[in-house]
Amino acid sequence: MPLFGVNSLSVHYGAIEAVRGIDFEVGEGEIVALLGANGAGKSSTLNALAGLVPVAGGSVRFDGVDITNLKPEALTPLGLALSPEGRRVFGTLTVAENLRMGAYSISGRHVLEQAWERVYDLFPLLYERRSQYAGTLSGGQQQMLAVGRALMSNPRLLFLDEPSLGLAPRIVDQVFELIVKLREQGVTLVVVEQNVDRALEIADRAYLLALGQIRAAGSASDLAKSGAVTAAYLGEA
Ligand SMILES: Nc1ncnc2c1ncn2[C@@H]1O[C@H](COP(=O)(O)OP(=O)(O)O)[C@@H](O)[C@H]1O
Ligand SMILES: [Mg+2]
Repeated sequence: MPLFGVNSLSVHYGAIEAVRGIDFEVGEGEIVALLGANGAGKSSTLNALAGLVPVAGGSVRFDGVDITNLKPEALTPLGLALSPEGRRVFGTLTVAENLRMGAYSISGRHVLEQAWERVYDLFPLLYERRSQYAGTLSGGQQQMLAVGRALMSNPRLLFLDEPSLGLAPRIVDQVFELIVKLREQGVTLVVVEQNVDRALEIADRAYLLALGQIRAAGSASDLAKSGAVTAAYLGEA
C-alpha cells in the first residue's frame, strides 16, 4: 500500500471548482512532482491535504489512516507538514521563534533540541541569524526558514509549495540539493515547482494538473519526454 493516497479529491471556493476529483498516490521515500500552469489547482490540492482548506469531496489516506479533513494540528503529529507558497514567516518573531512554532506538536525538550539541531545543520545561516527578526531576512532566507519550520515537526511526508519561487539561481540550486538531501534522510516529498525541468530531474514520478484535473501522470523521465508538460505551461489546457 502506498504511504499516501488521494482518491477523487475536490476543492471548491464557493462556485469555483479549483480541484475536480483527482487521484494520486505517493510511495514511501519518493519525490513526487506536482506540476501545472498558474491556477491549475496545485496549491489548492496541497492546502486541502494539509488541512488548511476544506476537502469538498473525496478521501485522503496517510499510512493506512483516513485523514480527510483533519486539521493541521492533527496532521502534524501524524508526520505530515507543509511549507506553504509565499514564505509565510512571522516577521516580528525571531528565526528561532519561527522554528519553534513549527514544533508545536513536540513537547519533549530533548526532541525539540534535536529538531532545532537538524534544521540548523541543514541551514547554518538560520543558526547565525537565530536571534534576528524573520522580517529582516532576505527572500531566500525567509524561504529557507519556511522550509525549516515545516521540518521542525520531523515530518515523514513533506509538501513543498513553490520552494524556489523568486529566488536567485544560486539559492535555487540549494533548494534542489536540499530536497534530494531530505529524501536521503528518509523524508517522502511532494513538490510543486515552476522550475519544471529541474523538478523532473530530481523527482521519481510526476502528476500534471490542468484546470483542476490530472492531465498526465507517470515517471518523471517519461513526462519530461512527453511534451504534455510543455503544452500545459504554454496554456494549451
Ligand atoms: N482562496 C481562494 N478563493 C477563491 N479562489 C481561489 C482561492 N485560491 C485559489 N483560488 C482559485 O482556484 C484556482 C486554483 O488556484 P491554485 O490552487 O492557487 O492554483 P496553482 O497553485 O496551481 O497556481 C484558481 O482559479 C484560483 O483563482
Ligand atoms: Mg500555487
